[in-house]
Amino acid sequence: MIPTLEWTPKGVNFIDQTKLPLEETYVLATSYEEVADVIVTMVVRGAPAIGVAAAYGVAIGAKDSKAATIADFAPEFETICAKLASTRPTAVNLFWAIDRMKKLFATLVAEKASMSTVKERILTEAHAMYEEDIAACKAMGAFGGVRMPDAGGVLTHCNAGALATCGYGTALGVIRSAVEHGKKIKVYADETRPFLQGARLTAWELMHDGIDTTVICDNMAASLMRAGKIQAVVVGADRIAANGDFANKIGTYNVAILAKEHGIPFYVAAPWSTIDMKTPNGEAIPIEERSPVEVTHHGGKQLTPNGVGICNPAFDMTPAKYVTAIFTERGTLEAPYREALAKMA
Ligand code: MRU
Repeated sequence: MIPTLEWTPKGVNFIDQTKLPLEETYVLATSYEEVADVIVTMVVRGAPAIGVAAAYGVAIGAKDSKAATIADFAPEFETICAKLASTRPTAVNLFWAIDRMKKLFATLVAEKASMSTVKERILTEAHAMYEEDIAACKAMGAFGGVRMPDAGGVLTHCNAGALATCGYGTALGVIRSAVEHGKKIKVYADETRPFLQGARLTAWELMHDGIDTTVICDNMAASLMRAGKIQAVVVGADRIAANGDFANKIGTYNVAILAKEHGIPFYVAAPWSTIDMKTPNGEAIPIEERSPVEVTHHGGKQLTPNGVGICNPAFDMTPAKYVTAIFTERGTLEAPYREALAKMA
């Protein structure tokens, strides 16, 4: 299994996703500030992986604390959580993981737990989130795998794979499951400008598993669809609102519209930690704006004229009306999504 992130006695070890596929190197984050930094710089990225990374960040912060009692530690705990929560705004898994740690902390306060117990229980919770994430990916993969064509092209956008989770992946987990069941899937991976998660990461990890993969530029999808090469689309999500609208990597909305125009099923795969029942619809999802340098430069080389206007939203919102089905570890959801999500919650 691809080691996206791993707890070690010295800190959390992350495969450096900014260097893949040319270099397989690792970054060891030894403090909660360093964990926050690897999230911001996208050494680790992908909604579920960000959530678990933050959980381990809280665990490192607790481990390093010199506080003698849980009461002394409480303000420090708030600072750690606030720092990790400030890293990326769109992926709700980040806030889900931090909220889960806050609930655990409240229980520990009520129990008047010793600092050694606090440290141990927070780390155990982070390990549980890690294991649950892999199990969720496998379960949604099985639900989604049966909806994949027996043979044909499946388009995916960004990287919603092992590298975006603790292992196996969400959208790529669906593809992995289909392939494991003997389906003859040819994956088309959108390159995913500007950060190239598709060209660099999806291609790398699917080739690692020997899955037939072809990278296309983002502007080629329509043409391939019209040529009959794509039988299904499956993507991940960073946040699914209570009505089924969802945010995912910029360009996902384009793909959804194209799929509808060509009568191709458009699927979303995400763990329950990506579902945000407190956000009523997609318009209310915060969209991260990243540095213009990601657009103006590539590999250190400038692409655009000095001073030109740049727009770099990292995500877009796709209305639920474009979604054929959502796969979660709890099962498959279909429209009307507000009712289906409320029932499954
Ligand atoms: O900016 P990124 O690379 O963190 O964006 C990742 C995505 O948009 C993924 O599709 C999403 O997080 C789902 S990952 C299972």
